[in-house]
Parts: sequence; structure tokens; C-alpha cells
Amino acid sequence: MLSSVPPDEPPLLLAARRQPTPFTPVWLMRQAGRYMPEYRALRARHSFLDLCKTPQAAAEVTLQPVERLGVDAAILFADILLIVEPLGVGLEFAKGEGPVIHRPVRAASDVARLAAIDVPSALGFVFETVRLARHALAASIPLIGFAGAPFTVASYVIEGGPSRDYAATKRLMHEEPEAWARLLALLARATTMYLNGQIAAGAQAVQLFDSWVGALSPDDYREFVLPHTRAVIRGLTPGVPVIHFGTGTAGLLSAMREAGGDVIGLDWRIDLDAGWRAVGDDIAVQGNLDPVALLSPPARFEPAVRSILGRARGRRGHIFNLGHGILQSTPVDHVKALVAMVHELSSR
Ligand code: CP3
Repeated sequence: MLSSVPPDEPPLLLAARRQPTPFTPVWLMRQAGRYMPEYRALRARHSFLDLCKTPQAAAEVTLQPVERLGVDAAILFADILLIVEPLGVGLEFAKGEGPVIHRPVRAASDVARLAAIDVPSALGFVFETVRLARHALAASIPLIGFAGAPFTVASYVIEGGPSRDYAATKRLMHEEPEAWARLLALLARATTMYLNGQIAAGAQAVQLFDSWVGALSPDDYREFVLPHTRAVIRGLTPGVPVIHFGTGTAGLLSAMREAGGDVIGLDWRIDLDAGWRAVGDDIAVQGNLDPVALLSPPARFEPAVRSILGRARGRRGHIFNLGHGILQSTPVDHVKALVAMVHELSSR
């Protein structure tokens, strides 16, 4: 429960608790990354995994968008797949291809061989990044921690990388339901410890990324995924807002709300007000500009920003964000203009 509100709470945390804010707070998924020249400069010296595992550098990347864009929160620089590396599945971020898992988990016998993830020893570097970033940030800028939700992380472990149809994932789910449940429970336990470790290290809100959950039918979501996501959210340190995010979720929003979260992420495929009705007016929402809009100059995306703010109608509990991550080809000036635009159009 998010009842007591400390004085001087940053706007983004107030919005997550559906308290009044002086303007609509905004942060952007993938606000740190290759579209930013200062990120590319660091990446010239470190591989992506190296960057994630060097807390000093990862904390620096966490801060870059705050300094450059004027966003109302920082998000930890890490990746949703770091948690699977200790499973020994052979995680690699291949140039130009995104993540690759060299030894995917395809059969019940593969699942049976997996040992529990020793979170403190395998992921301590992430907690150190959180401590360094929190220490370097102004008190007015909350730090958001994150993890992948069990389904989305399992989909990478099973498919070995991104997928169009999630055929191997759904096949394991339907043909080997016990192995599926074991895999998701193993990921859920590790994810709970991982997020609580981030919270203990200084994360003031956490986002659970179920990016690819929109591939599922509502019935499959409720039967095979919801219980595991709910177990993660129920296991988190109380009082820290949880943002529950997915894409392609227009048909899943009420079920996602059942799974939990104080804020539900909305992608751009649904009107913000319709999405808000679907999750319920008594919780907060985050979203929901199409990231592709930012490729065009500000005058072109301003109507879409006005439309989103208009649909939010100044109600408590709206965090402005994109419906998914910033694209690599996005001009930094457009992103900066977006943040200023949201602040200006929403200030009251
Ligand atoms: O700024 C932030 O949002 C924080 C950092 C962050 C990264 N990944 C850094 C990253 C976050 C929150 C993530 C989450 C993540 N990672 C998700 C969920 C969000 C989403 O987009 O749905 C997923 C599915 C992943 C898995 C992943 N990692 C993919 C698919 C890729 C390839 C993306 C691409 O465009 O090539 C990555 C690599 C990755 N994660 C990069 C960054 C900055 C690019 C790596 C590089 O610098 O070469």
C-alpha cells in the first residue's frame, strides 16, 4: 500500500501514488542509449556487457539523460537479460543483432538442469551501480530500478533471441506445463530478490518489463503467466511504486492489473483514456506516445502530445512516457523538445 507520502516527494513518485503534481512528470524508456553521443563515446571503449558490469561507467550512463534532457527520473542502466547469464545459457549481445542466447532452454530436460540463480553474488555489480547513481543524483530525481518479467525473460531463454511468433515458448508452455511452471517460478524468485536488492541499494520505484507479453491470448496469460508476475510483485518491498509494463497489451490490460502494479504502462496502440478505463481509474498509468513520432520535428509530434495530455485531462496519476523504447535514429534535440513540451503543456 502506498498510503503515507513523505514531504518533498519528487513529482514522478507523487504521480505513481496518484497524488497531485505541479506538472505531468516524464521519463522515457531507453532514455540512455545509442541515440546519445555521450553514450556512444563510452561504448567505443566498452562492450555493452562490459558497460553494464562496470558500475562507475553504468552509473555515468544512468545520469546522462537526466543532464541532457531534463527528465523527471533516471532509470538504472542495465539489461533485462543480465539475470539469465548465471544460468550458463551463453548470453551475448551480438553486434547489430541484439541479444543472443547460445544454449536456449527448449525441453523439460533443459529446464530440469537449471540451478537457482544466486542473485547477490551474480548481480552485485547492478546493486553497486544503483548505489553510485543514487548518490550522484539530485534528491528531486528519483532512480527507477527494473527487471524483465518472467514471461519476457523466459521467451529469450527459450527462443535464444527475439522472435516473431514465440512458437518455441508457447510450445513449452502448452506441451510441458510443469517444466514451464518450474522455469517461470525460478525466474520469478530470482527477479523478486533482484528487484528487492535494487530497492535496498536505493531504487525508489521499479519497472517490470513484460515487453513481449502481448503475444499471448488473455486465457494463456491468466493461466501461465499472471501467477508468476503476481508472485514477483507481491514479494517486493512494500511502499515502493511498481510500474508494470508491456506492449501489444490492449486485450490484456485488466489481467495485467490483476497481476499487480501501482502504475500500468500503455503502449501507443490504445488511446490513453481507453487504456486507463481498462486498468481502472483508481490506479496510475504511464505512456503512451509512439516512439516513432520522435523521428519527426517537434511541430509534427506536438498534436500527439496534446492528444495524450488531453485524454489524461490533468487527472492524478499520469506519468508521461513513450509506449516503448526510444529508437536509435532519434535526434537528441527532438527528445529534449518533447520533455520541455510535456512540462510546458501540463504545468498548472
Ligand atoms: O535507458 C534505459 O531504458 C535503461 C537501460 C535499458 C537497456 N535495456 C539498455 C540496453 C533497459 C531498461 C533495457 C531493457 C530491455 N532489454 C528490454 C525491455 C525494454 C524493451 O525495449 O522492451 C528488452 C526486451 C531488452 C533486451 C535487449 N537488450 C534487446 C532487445 C537489445 C537490443 C536492442 C537494440 O536496439 O539493439 C538489448 C541491448 C541494449 N540494452 C542496448 C541498450 C542501451 C543496446 C546495446 C548497445 O549499446 O549496443
